[in-house]
Amino acid sequence: MELLLPRPGLGQIKPYRPAQPLGEERPWIDLSLTVNPLGPSPKALAAYRNAAGQIHRYPDSRQESLRRAIARRYDLDATRIVCADGSDAMIQLFCQAYAGPGDEVLCHEHGYQGFLKAIRVSGATPVVAKERDMVADVDAMIDRAGERTKICFLANPNNPTGTYIPLEAVQRLRAGLPPHVLLVLDAAYAEFVRRNNYDCGVELVENTDNTAMVRTFSKMYGLAGLRVGWAYGPPAVVDALNHVRGAFNVSVPAQAAAIAAVTDVGHEEATYAHNSHWLPWLTHELEQLGVRVYPSVCNFILARIPADPSLGVQQVMDHLARCNILVRPTQDYGLPDCLRITVGSEEENRALVRALAEILA
Ligand SMILES: Cc1ncc(COP(=O)(O)O)c(C=O)c1O
Repeated sequence: MELLLPRPGLGQIKPYRPAQPLGEERPWIDLSLTVNPLGPSPKALAAYRNAAGQIHRYPDSRQESLRRAIARRYDLDATRIVCADGSDAMIQLFCQAYAGPGDEVLCHEHGYQGFLKAIRVSGATPVVAKERDMVADVDAMIDRAGERTKICFLANPNNPTGTYIPLEAVQRLRAGLPPHVLLVLDAAYAEFVRRNNYDCGVELVENTDNTAMVRTFSKMYGLAGLRVGWAYGPPAVVDALNHVRGAFNVSVPAQAAAIAAVTDVGHEEATYAHNSHWLPWLTHELEQLGVRVYPSVCNFILARIPADPSLGVQQVMDHLARCNILVRPTQDYGLPDCLRITVGSEEENRALVRALAEILA
C-alpha cells in the first residue's frame, strides 16, 4: 500500500509545546502565556453567558456588529475590517491568500513564531532578516526582500522580545519594500503601548494599497480562550481574506463577548494601569537579581539568565516548576538562555520574584 504523506515542508513545523508538564494538574501560576491577569471584562463575561441560548444558531457570517464595534472603538472604517478565530488564524489567512510554493515570505529573526508556522503551512519559503539588539532591523528586512517576496510580517511590538520600532521606521520599511510586497503589521500588544513615537500603522493601511494590520482580543481584552482576531486592510486585501476564511469562523459567544469587551474602556484602563505598575516592578526586581531584562512595552518581559556554568535556563525553570510557576522558554526563538515571563497578578509577580531570588541570589 502506498504511504499517505502530507505536503512537503510540514515536517519543519515545530509542534506547539505547552509549558505545563503533561498530566501534572496543579494549581499552577501560569506566566508562560501572555494573557491578561485581570481576566476578561465583566461585561464580556455577561455577554458570553447571554449568548449561551443562541449557540444552536450559526454566527453572523458578515461579523457586522463586531466589525462596527471595533470600528467605533478605534475610529476605523468597518468595511475594511475582517475577523477570524484568533490572530494566528488571521496570519494563516494572509499566507493562504497571498503566498504559496515558490514564493518567499519575510519575517524577522526573533519575531513571533506564528509567522513561521503560517508561512510553512502555505508552502511558501520563510526568509528571516537579522535583528539588531533584539529589535527588528528595517534595513536588513528591506535587503532580504526580492521579486519572489509576497508578504513581509512585522510584529510591532514583538513577542517574545517585547521591543518595538517607531512609526518612522515602519514608514521607512514600507517605502523600502517593493510595492508588490504586502506589509502585514501584527500589533497584538498595541493597546499596551502609549509612547509618542509608536503607532500601530492605521494611516499606512489607509493610505497605501499594500499594507495591512492584524489585531487580537487575546491580550488586552482577556479573551484568549474565545479566539478572536481581526485585520484592517485595503478593500482588495479584505476581499481576498473574506474569500479564504470560513464563513462562520468566529463563534456566536466569541462575537458577543468581543463586542462587549471592546466597548469596556474601564476594563482596558484597569488592565493598562496594572501593567504600567507591574511591568517596571518586575523589570527592576529581576535586574536586582542580576538578570538582564530587555526593555518591554508589552505585558511580558524577556529575561536573560546570567551566564553560570552550574545554573542554566533549565535549572531555573525546574526550580520555578517546583514552586508551581510556569514560564516560557525561548530556545525556539533562537534565544536559548532567555525566558519569557508574563506580568501576572500582584501575588503571582511576588511569588515569581521570591522563587527566582531563591535560586539566583
Ligand atoms: C505577536 C503576536 N501575534 C499574534 C498572536 C496570536 O494571538 P491569538 O491567536 O491568540 O490572537 C500572539 C500570541 O501570543 C502574538 O504574541
